[in-house]
Amino acid sequence: MKKTFYITTPIYYPSAKLHIGHALTTVMADTMSRYKKMQGYETYFLTGSDEHGLKIERTAKAEGKEPKEYVDQIVAGFKQLWEKLLISNDDFIRTTDPRHQQVVQNIFRKIYDQGDIYLSTYEGWYCTPCETFFTERQVGAEKICPDCGRPVELVKEESYFFKMSKYADRLLRHIEEHPDFIQPVSRRNEMINFIKSGLEDLCVSRTTFSWGIPVPLNPKHVIYVWFDALTNYISALGYGTEHDELYQKFWPADIHLVGKDIVRFHTVIWPTILMAAGLPLPKQVFGHGWLLLDSGKMSKSKGNVVDPILLIDKYGVDAIRYFLLREIPLGMDGYYSEDNLIQRINTDLANDFGNLVSRTVAMIEKYCAGKVPAPEEAQGQFDQELLSLAAKIPQEAAGYYDQMDFANALTSIWELVNRANKYIDETMPWILAKDEKQKGRLNTVLYNLLEVIRIVTVMIAPAMPSLPEKVWAQIGLKDVSALSWTETEWGKTRPGQVVCKGKSLFPRIEVKENEAVTAGEGMSKTQTAVQKAKEQNTQEQTGTIKQSGEKPMESTQISIEDFAKIDLRVAEVIACEKVEKADKLLKLEIKIGEEKRTIVSGIAQHYTPEELVGKKIIVVANLQPAKLRGIVSEGMLLAASNGDTLEVVTLEKDLPTGSKVK
Ligand code: ME8
Repeated sequence: MKKTFYITTPIYYPSAKLHIGHALTTVMADTMSRYKKMQGYETYFLTGSDEHGLKIERTAKAEGKEPKEYVDQIVAGFKQLWEKLLISNDDFIRTTDPRHQQVVQNIFRKIYDQGDIYLSTYEGWYCTPCETFFTERQVGAEKICPDCGRPVELVKEESYFFKMSKYADRLLRHIEEHPDFIQPVSRRNEMINFIKSGLEDLCVSRTTFSWGIPVPLNPKHVIYVWFDALTNYISALGYGTEHDELYQKFWPADIHLVGKDIVRFHTVIWPTILMAAGLPLPKQVFGHGWLLLDSGKMSKSKGNVVDPILLIDKYGVDAIRYFLLREIPLGMDGYYSEDNLIQRINTDLANDFGNLVSRTVAMIEKYCAGKVPAPEEAQGQFDQELLSLAAKIPQEAAGYYDQMDFANALTSIWELVNRANKYIDETMPWILAKDEKQKGRLNTVLYNLLEVIRIVTVMIAPAMPSLPEKVWAQIGLKDVSALSWTETEWGKTRPGQVVCKGKSLFPRIEVKENEAVTAGEGMSKTQTAVQKAKEQNTQEQTGTIKQSGEKPMESTQISIEDFAKIDLRVAEVIACEKVEKADKLLKLEIKIGEEKRTIVSGIAQHYTPEELVGKKIIVVANLQPAKLRGIVSEGMLLAASNGDTLEVVTLEKDLPTGSKVK
């Protein structure tokens, strides 16, 4: 039997235009699905739309439309975008599909019948944009959503509750016994702490609006949108229906790929629902980082959305996909700017890969009458290095693809591209061509180059699916329909193949001012995060630096030498307490390598001492000491803030204290 692989993206809200952040998630899932197919798996790749809830009902109303009419039109746009991005999903599930609604109701009913859903009254806070319930403590005195920073609403209504708390211990055990269940590791630790802090029962119905799936037996209620949405992963497979062949074949899912903001829903709510329903849990939830906008390109008031359709039209789908995959380090955030994109196109694609293809094909046309020559024995150090790298990189890249580490997979593939370019300079085929006695050597060099191009193209095919066809047309191959990873093996190019120089694969982009593809409004989560991380530089400073207020980034430029004077280090908070009679100050004991220090920081209104102990933070280690309330502060921690929100900069990965930050 063939090995199977089931991967899903989140189903997207049709509340706003999709932007390149959404494109990132979907492109990652698509790349993974294509890669697994090339590895011989029978794959199933699901995406879709999450169409219920108060947010959609309100948005539709604001546009004077019925909710269904509104979502139909937006979802048509999703499908068009996925087509343009060459997304090869096997199904597109809509939560308004009758096939989905029926499964959600059945599961709700089953859990209710066994006593794990009960009727009570909900009184608390709700963030409509995030469709999330929060406790009094979570929304704080300002009544702000802890996730998106927007105001929450007070809700008091009769509701059904799911006994999520009952499953907390089992869930924790599952997470601890299955190290791969939550990836990357940093997200796993976050979730373990979250669950350990206590799970409450979850409100799973609403009565104050009607745009949702009715609760069976009590249609006054609609089912909570996350209960509804998460179930898509099995309703799409026909779970619980007469035709559940796909469910039998593909469940449990291999990977639920989600953005880091919704890991919690997928690793707490979803598994506990599945446990209650008596179903196996997905093998892995992978929380990727965000694509953030470079602050320089954003409008201060609203933030700009980057429309992927405009980008594809301008730069081509392969280039956009390459950029998205190359730019986000595993599990971390990455930055989008059109300048970065153009630089990647010009350097990696046009200069490195595009040139390698056009130079090689041109030389075969010129020196070998357009036919791939037969090679002689490989000889010398240059051949050896090239051939051994060509044998090593497919394994290395496969290892990265398997981990969903696309940035490193592509970096590793480009190592081979660059080695091949260097090989041209080392072997100088144009000199060999002048000497008839060197004909055999020339043939070997050109064959080797062509072979590298072929292998590289196979390896980047999952990431850039329209590339193989274009490259094949130039190097004289035909069938791109069923590419397999086994074709990364050396020596599959047949001498005699007729090459044909075509259009430049990636023409260089000339940079002109003011032609950026940014327009429109609201890249909500992105914008919030960017504002937090980049737009403001109000690190609440202590020591000798006065709190600077909300000063935007357009500050004086400094040289790299100036920056190098600042000694930034990773430190661990080993103890922390409030400073007496100072509302804003905390006194932190930190460890930098073997050294212990005290710093005072003006963050007491944002963190309790307990929240900070054990955190790895970043400090300016060479700041002149300063006395605050009689305490000598020997450094300063970094924090980002936006309005009333402040977040201490912490590390995703567990690096030793004392590590340099640069
Ligand atoms: O959350 N960079 O839908 P959604 C990277 N309907 N990823 C981003 C991003 C960015 N700038 N902005 C958004 C929902 N995303 C629910 C999902 S699943 C059962 C229900 C990602 O349309 C975000 O992290 O708000 C999330 O994974 C996905 O887009 C969908 O966001």
